[in-house]
Amino acid sequence: MPPQVLQVAVLASGRGSNLDALLASIRAGLVAAQVTAVVSDKPDAPVLALARRHGVPHVVSLPPLAGEKRDAYDVRLAGTLGACKPDLVVLAGYMRIVGPKVCAAFPDRIVNIHPSLLPAFKGLKAIRQALEAGVAFAGCTTHLVTGDLDGGPILLQAALCIRPGESEEELSRRVLRLEHLVLPRTVQLFAEGRIQRHGPGAPGPRDAANASLRIAIAPGPTWLGDARVNLAAGALYGEGF
Ligand code: GRF
Repeated sequence: MPPQVLQVAVLASGRGSNLDALLASIRAGLVAAQVTAVVSDKPDAPVLALARRHGVPHVVSLPPLAGEKRDAYDVRLAGTLGACKPDLVVLAGYMRIVGPKVCAAFPDRIVNIHPSLLPAFKGLKAIRQALEAGVAFAGCTTHLVTGDLDGGPILLQAALCIRPGESEEELSRRVLRLEHLVLPRTVQLFAEGRIQRHGPGAPGPRDAANASLRIAIAPGPTWLGDARVNLAAGALYGEGF
């Protein structure tokens, strides 16, 4: 049985608009979760103040120490997260690579939101990459975090048409609005226990043994048609399950 209220830890490095959207969806009753921890690698990230304002119980600034190796930071991060015992870890604008120690501590329970229609335009400056490639659609993707950067199994996506001559700033703003729908929706699917492993593969970072890991979303209620959900005009959002 899924827990009644999913305990969520959020990792973020910046302004925290995705955290804000998640908290708003929880308040609106759309997501049965509680954000119990917010951890940032950037001590001055606005997301930390935002989390404090909203009364998140554990708000942790965890910058890397001088000369600290990535592995050592990972151990500290896994320990910090582990102490909060989250059911789900959400990367919401987290700018560090999450290493194998953290992935192994939360197998199939780390989600990232990325501002492109993966598998296209992985990594940094995804919106700029899309504009430079001249594609017609942009969007965002939630996916499970594995050892493969922005390459874990896809959970949800939403898309919009790129307008002629659209600037990177404007397109980023429109895609961000989609993120604010897709990330909370993804958390709610976990809360409902509907994210299920499908096909072969052991839990943990993607490797040769579980390269074919796929995720299935069990049938259930959708947000399509819910008056509380405000989808940007012209956006495409599929819940075909
Ligand atoms: C989002 O576009 C997210 O997809 C990207 O960083 C941005 C974070 O925005 N990885 P915010 O801090 O949630 O406002």
